[in-house]
Amino acid sequence: MSEVKNHLLWDGCDTVELAKTYGTPLYVFSESMIEQACRELQRDFIQKYERVRVAYASKAFNVLAMLKLVEKEGLCLDVVSGGELYTAIAADFEPEKIEFNGNNKSVAELEEALDYGVGRFIIDSMQELDLIQHICREKKQTAKVLFRITPEITVQTHRYISTGQKDSKFGIPLDEKVLFPLIKQAIDAPEIDFYGIHFHIGSQLADNQTHLAAANVALNLVKQIKERFDYEVKELNYGGGFGVRYTKADVRQPYAYFLDPLMEATITFCEEHQLYRPTIVIEPGRSIVAEAGITLHTIGSIKQLPGIRTYASIDGGMTDNIRPGLYQAQYEVAIANKQTDQDLEPVTISGKICESTDILVKDALLPKVATGDILATYTTGAYGYSMASNYNKIAIPAVIFVKEGRAEEVVKRQSYQQMIQNEVIPTHLR
Ligand code: LLP
Repeated sequence: MSEVKNHLLWDGCDTVELAKTYGTPLYVFSESMIEQACRELQRDFIQKYERVRVAYASKAFNVLAMLKLVEKEGLCLDVVSGGELYTAIAADFEPEKIEFNGNNKSVAELEEALDYGVGRFIIDSMQELDLIQHICREKKQTAKVLFRITPEITVQTHRYISTGQKDSKFGIPLDEKVLFPLIKQAIDAPEIDFYGIHFHIGSQLADNQTHLAAANVALNLVKQIKERFDYEVKELNYGGGFGVRYTKADVRQPYAYFLDPLMEATITFCEEHQLYRPTIVIEPGRSIVAEAGITLHTIGSIKQLPGIRTYASIDGGMTDNIRPGLYQAQYEVAIANKQTDQDLEPVTISGKICESTDILVKDALLPKVATGDILATYTTGAYGYSMASNYNKIAIPAVIFVKEGRAEEVVKRQSYQQMIQNEVIPTHLR
């Protein structure tokens, strides 16, 4: 692909050309950057320690191409719905390498997962164990289960993405009258293979201390399970949540910053208490894919409000990135066709959706914007496409994978026809 000076390149591709070829809005993922994150996990975790696993939390970005890529990179997978699981199976992901999370899995979802031979079930509630036992008995199958606990850890992140506090819809409370009878039930049930304990305390975390505190809670449970039931926990799942860089205010820590202290604490605890050291699983989503993705938009109308601000509107918005509207998330943007640091001016980038909260970035410093410019938003690879909606009947954008100058469409742009294909006019209105 040809390169033009002052154009933003992404994994060797000219983004302005990509916008021309595939249209905007457009999600563009650097395959090399996804591989880099996977390889860091390989080097600093999977190959460094024995008995560890990484399950990519596919909710961050779950499409066939991505699942193929992470499988090729040697990772396992975490899914949270029948739809995510279906996509994984369609991508030929090995079922044994799939873990099924979620706080309200339906009977149909559990049945499908058992039929496929999903590797782990993360039980999230008191009822779910009874439910899965019942289904297993009917199907004459067994399930490998972990219990997701609520470790009562408060994390430093947006409150909408913190999940480890006591008052949470996720997980089983750390109440021994609740938790231990459940564990006993799982150990005793012939159709259940009790594997261990799972937690996920929250997302976009910059500090390693909260994972450590939660791991300590889980390790103490391992010890108590050994003491009470003489049962060796086989596996601990420490969840995901490793933070990425959205703006200059964020620090992207290497995986080792989180994982070395976690492994050290785990190994030390098990040695001190003469416990079998369980397999350690982590479930990163965002940190594998967020920074590899950018979104391209075309700037349309520009409105100057003298003494107040300038608004530049893009041809998408909260339908392709709901994070600013939902979590006040901050982003960095650039003009893809004007790569310069000179003569920057503040401009507020607004979406085209009929909502006042549809503002992508307030007062971004950019070269003077003009209608037709291509805006690039960085770090949109996680929870962008996967949270996209058809509000205002806006079509879901296309997705492109790029690598070393080569580009390929991995999701086609949704058509208007596809948007209405499931709609039916009732007979009396025809
Ligand atoms: N494991 C479990 C059980 C989870 O609930 C999550 C995320 C992950 C792993 C992956 O977490 P990560 O490594 O991506 O932080 N839509 C929000 C994020 C919600 C995350 C929900 N659970 C956002 O855009 O910030």
